[in-house]
Amino acid sequence: MTIDRSALASKTAAELDTLRLPADELTHFMLVYKFGLAEIGTKITILAEELQHRGRGNPIEHVITRLKTVESLTAKARRINCPMAFDTVRARIRDIAGVRVICSFVSDVYTVAEMLTRQQDVKLLQTKDYIAEPKANGYRSLHLIVEIPVFLSDRVVTVPVEVQLRTVAMDFWASLEHKIHYKYEQDVPDHLRAELTAAAHDAARLDERMERLHAQIHGPRHRT
Ligand code: GTP
Ligand code: MG
Repeated sequence: MTIDRSALASKTAAELDTLRLPADELTHFMLVYKFGLAEIGTKITILAEELQHRGRGNPIEHVITRLKTVESLTAKARRINCPMAFDTVRARIRDIAGVRVICSFVSDVYTVAEMLTRQQDVKLLQTKDYIAEPKANGYRSLHLIVEIPVFLSDRVVTVPVEVQLRTVAMDFWASLEHKIHYKYEQDVPDHLRAELTAAAHDAARLDERMERLHAQIHGPRHRT
């Protein structure tokens, strides 16, 4: 059987064309995510500063916020077969606004996640705990999808934000792994893959060791 690939390709392109989002509406659509990102970013900053002020050390090393670009949003919509209409994109792509919180210790990751999600206006939609269950390649992090209300001039909208929490060691590993994937574009040689997974195990051991050391010096952290 032969498949007419050119017909298939042009059909997909035509469908995507008809679903292309109008520019001004797209800007407004993205703006709402920018506001949601600012709300969650502020909450994390407040937690960091207040905990610092309480004099028990700051569990948050640093925070990065990022808004998906329209290109990467379009690419993801295509990848997951999501029609480029506002309603479907809004419902299916929940990592348009992203916050990454880098903590010192694994216990801090859970403490910060707990402090954020128990806030009245934050609704937890999804948890993926890749620390309790690392990915096969060794990737570890705690991923949350939270929803936050954003007060616009004439209405209130709720915005999903992806929050990735990880330790310095997890972040070190993930950024190197990301660079290697980017360089080899999916074709990472087997020996490098194995080496990366071994490094992820080393990073996990280092996290455990640092936590134990910290507890010996300061006692276990009790914040909640
Ligand atoms: P995306 O469509 O990429 O957002 O993935 P997903 O919807 O399956 O969600 P998941 O929670 O598994 O991963 C979301 C994000 O976590 C990714 O976009 C990366 O930022 C990060 N991530 C997940 N797995 C890995 C990994 O193996 N290596 C690295 N470096 N980052 C990862
Ligand atoms: Mg993503």
